Amino acid sequence: MENNEIEARFFALEAKCASCHRCPLGDTRTNIVFGTGSRHADLMFVGEAPGEQEDLSGTPFVGRAGQLLDRYLYAVDIKREDVYIANILKCRPPKNRDPLPAEEDACIDYLRDQVRLIRPKIIVCLGRIAAMRLIRPDYKISQEHGKWVEKGDFSMTAVFHPAALLRDPRRREDMLADMKSIKARLDELCAKESKVK
Ligand code: URA
Repeated sequence: MENNEIEARFFALEAKCASCHRCPLGDTRTNIVFGTGSRHADLMFVGEAPGEQEDLSGTPFVGRAGQLLDRYLYAVDIKREDVYIANILKCRPPKNRDPLPAEEDACIDYLRDQVRLIRPKIIVCLGRIAAMRLIRPDYKISQEHGKWVEKGDFSMTAVFHPAALLRDPRRREDMLADMKSIKARLDELCAKESKVK
């Protein structure tokens, strides 16, 4: 697909999402939080749902958890503008409760379409909720974080949600190791591609 075709489809998809009322969260949101970053990203992060700061700004991962995520990206030399960041839900659940299955079902096609347009090489689930939706319903984040799964055209993994790291700093070393593994896999896949070209 040509770049301008991708841009046009992205624009249309975001506009459709902006007027979405497929679930009741459409009535309580301030802004949709569609996603940000490069539409040509090789690496995509998927979180759970917007929090308060994200709902107010319309941008994913800008609150305290997002600032911690930024520090990990910096630590492994990945630029935030080179990746794409989105969530399973595009609207904030009240009081940041977990997404309901019906809300995920109503929203998931937006993420599917984003993935189809971006075609990243790697998808990283930020936390248990995203991993249970995108990798396996019985995914156990504390046992399986950082392990790689090949699914269709994508290499997938999950890491602890940055909000969980704020609550339990003992997991931060594991997070750094997982982020280093993500950077290594990204470099490996990009090097392979440039050899093929
Ligand atoms: N937590 C998430 O899962 N997503 C955000 O965008 C912010 C916090």
